[in-house]
Amino acid sequence: MGRFYITTPIYYVNDAPHVGHAYTTINADALARWHRLRGDETLFLTGTDEHGQKVAEAAAAHGVTSQAWTDQTSQRFRDAWDALDVGYDDFIRTTEARHYESVQRFLGAIYDRGFIYKDVYQGLYCVSCEDYYTIEASVDGNCPVHGRPLTEMEEENWFFRLSAFEDRLIEYYDRHPGFVTPETKRNEAYSFIKGGLRDISITRTSITWGVPVPWDERHVFYVWYDALINYLTALGYGRASDQVAHWWPSSHHLIGKEIIRFHCVWWPAMCMAAGLEPPQHVQVHGWLLVGGQKLSKTMAAEGAVRLTDIAPVVLTEEFGVDALRYYLLRETALGNDGEFSYEGITQRYNTDLANNLGNLVARVATVVASKCDGVGPAPTPDSPLRGDAELAIEQASAAWERFAPHAALEATWSLIGATNAFLERTAPWKLDPGAEVERVLGDALEAIRVVAILVTPAMPGVARELWRRLGLTGAPTDALASESLRWGLYPGGVRVDRATPLFPRIVGDR
Ligand code: MSP
Repeated sequence: MGRFYITTPIYYVNDAPHVGHAYTTINADALARWHRLRGDETLFLTGTDEHGQKVAEAAAAHGVTSQAWTDQTSQRFRDAWDALDVGYDDFIRTTEARHYESVQRFLGAIYDRGFIYKDVYQGLYCVSCEDYYTIEASVDGNCPVHGRPLTEMEEENWFFRLSAFEDRLIEYYDRHPGFVTPETKRNEAYSFIKGGLRDISITRTSITWGVPVPWDERHVFYVWYDALINYLTALGYGRASDQVAHWWPSSHHLIGKEIIRFHCVWWPAMCMAAGLEPPQHVQVHGWLLVGGQKLSKTMAAEGAVRLTDIAPVVLTEEFGVDALRYYLLRETALGNDGEFSYEGITQRYNTDLANNLGNLVARVATVVASKCDGVGPAPTPDSPLRGDAELAIEQASAAWERFAPHAALEATWSLIGATNAFLERTAPWKLDPGAEVERVLGDALEAIRVVAILVTPAMPGVARELWRRLGLTGAPTDALASESLRWGLYPGGVRVDRATPLFPRIVGDR
């Protein structure tokens, strides 16, 4: 058993949480749940990124102070995660005192080690990105991401000597081939570094909404600089509660592909500059697209995508929390872009959940009621389903370990498919009550028990409900995966609940 520290990006609080944010957070939650299940000491961190010009402008536009605005919006993220059954261990807000303290310590260490100096910065700025662009990178003077005009900015800034880390970063990448996954994204970051690194400006005097620079109080740190450090703040970096040595070697950052440069170039260099090892692993995921366009708050505000139609709560009301989680995890391999649509979620719901899993459970419970007086029999050790279950356990476990929730669920559903086929073959509903029926049903119940454990990371509510219907006590997470993911543990002699359908079919157009 090991340790597993997983983080999401911290979300900007310029607007409400949407399905794109939910996508990252649910993936991180499922991975954390898997690692808890297998007995790893696990820490799952998420939170909100509350500084920067974008947030200050959103607050001003709503006629409230930046602090009041961030308080209110940060809470909306917590509420969304509660509603989606996201079990984070810590929720960080970058306006918290603990964060100021850690940021000042961390950047103070980089300053003391001589990697920060003062200079004048001139450049084209995009407030939506909170980032500078060169004229070459712009599209006719407009932001390449948002299409808005870039603003000419000139400031006296403190700079981070990123250029000093080019060779060290290349060496780090060469020695740690799994540092960034998938490989295509690793190659993207690697070529960026190989292309040559320029020093970067890390402070601002034009705004006050930020963490003050400890050695020059007229400046605040540029939002990205304080934001990245959140991953260490949560570990108590530089404070009495410092647990960095405990957690840092097992750190995994899950991020969207648009923030690769920050996490895979700046961040490891900053860690090196502060005298710390870079994080162990950055897992990059693609964008969720709606009609081919990224689902982002900034674009929504411009009317490009009707985000309000696809807020997480709209979907959970229609499909249920676990069905939404399942869809987001199952549809797209982590790393690829994915298409989000009502048709897609409805189809997954009806096929995988209602037809495959839901029918399996209903069928078995019905026959247990009619042929075994509602009492579930024990499985047989040499069941024809045993091999299918063992293969699903092996493949799903390996997939969770390699950050591939979609493959883990695919493997789990192959056991559901095999069990349905087994029932078709043996047709226990046609048999007279007796030993043969009991053998078939005991094996099917055992397969469902294994499925209940395997779906726990993705659908914690459904997993608990399956457990209850099988007549089992406690929860599927009570025992570690290493103990419970073995064929033959369904006890038999317990009452199987013949309740209402788990996933009533969805009919009609959406
Ligand atoms: N605040 C920065 C991150 C700082 S981390 C030190 C930021 N915030 S954000 O609110 O814009 O959210 C970024 C993350 O939300 C993305 O990296 C991605 O994980 C997720 N997503 C936002 N829109 C998304 C999609 N349309 N699809 C998938 N993920 C999306 O950047």
